[in-house]
Amino acid sequence: MATQLSVRDLHVRFPTTRGVVEAVNGVSFSLERGATLGIVGESGSGKSVTAKALMNLLPRTAEVDGRVRFDGEDVRGLAVTGGEHFWGVRMTMVFQDPTTSLNPVKKCGEQIAETLRYHLGQDRATARKNATALLEQVGVPEPAKRVDQYPHQLSGGLRQRVVIAMALACEPDLLIADEPTTAIDVTVQKRILDLLDSLRKERGMSMILITHDLGVARGRCDEVAVMYAGRVVERAATETLFDGSRHPYTDALLRSIPRIDQPSHTRLDPIPGRPPELISPPLGCAFAPRCRYAQPDCLTSVPRIASAGEGHDFACHHPANTRDGREALATNIAAGVTAAGLEIGQRRRS
Ligand SMILES: Nc1ncnc2c1ncn2[C@@H]1O[C@H](COP(=O)(O)OP(=O)(O)OP(=O)(O)O)[C@@H](O)[C@H]1O
Ligand code: SF4
Ligand SMILES: [Mg+2]
Repeated sequence: MATQLSVRDLHVRFPTTRGVVEAVNGVSFSLERGATLGIVGESGSGKSVTAKALMNLLPRTAEVDGRVRFDGEDVRGLAVTGGEHFWGVRMTMVFQDPTTSLNPVKKCGEQIAETLRYHLGQDRATARKNATALLEQVGVPEPAKRVDQYPHQLSGGLRQRVVIAMALACEPDLLIADEPTTAIDVTVQKRILDLLDSLRKERGMSMILITHDLGVARGRCDEVAVMYAGRVVERAATETLFDGSRHPYTDALLRSIPRIDQPSHTRLDPIPGRPPELISPPLGCAFAPRCRYAQPDCLTSVPRIASAGEGHDFACHHPANTRDGREALATNIAAGVTAAGLEIGQRRRS
């Protein structure tokens, strides 16, 4: 398959009065045409900032570095030369909260039609007709009536469908969906994800799906990138990641979510502690204070990305599910404490 998107060594820094926030710190990944990449990680790990950097939506104060190529074309160069018919046409984005993406004083149909008129030059009547058809396509009931309604007249689930219709209006090659279902009723979530999935297949569109939910990533993505403190710490084909994670953070995330094959009373292991400050982060591995595997070298040197086989990369000195990692964990369990001072005991049997 051909590479649609390639991101190399992306950095995003926000100068603030407290210091420079290193929100994205050397992120690299690529996405094949027609595939879905999941980006997972705790709050503040840099998922949305990465997405906004790709969409050229960051505030002017942000300092961006790195290379982003789309179909071989330099996307960051487009930002300089215009790119107004690139973003919103070939690459579009659905945000977490539909209310922020819709104009409250404009009818839903008009908002979709505007996109069609601006980017594709359609006349008023054609754009309106196509807007209605798009609403129908994303499963909005009574589309002919809904085009003339305002966002507040729709439920959260329907509003998100309108946002999706807007994002799909110009038949993008890549759709970035940033937590597209968090603001929505649980029962509607699955329907929205199914819809995105089927539209992706139908149109051969690629997708980046940002989610807190590892279950969603597992069910919907071909590949998953795990972000921690502004870095991609592990990246692999979905099954590989879930069956043989190497990074202790991925491992900890997997232990903190319920699994279908576990009895319902199984206790989950929450990840102790909190992510680090992104202003002058600690020396060494950013996960060290929370890591059960941490050894002295983790406190002084940042682990580089290594390969565990085809398409499986991770950044860790003592990777989980390896002999080295098992020894590191055994040493820490025997001592009752890690090199970073995290107190640990025998892992509960589950
Ligand atoms: N405009 C800004 N100025 C300063 N810091 C910012 C700005 N935008 C984002 N950040 C910081 O960048 C970091 C990454 O934020 P980001 O929104 O990407 O997190 P996220 O992974 O999407 O989290 P969530 O899961 O909560 O959506 C956070 O520490 C955030 O506070
Ligand atoms: S073992 Fe070391 S390098 Fe690996 S995640 Fe833990 S602290 Fe980081
Ligand atoms: Mg976010």
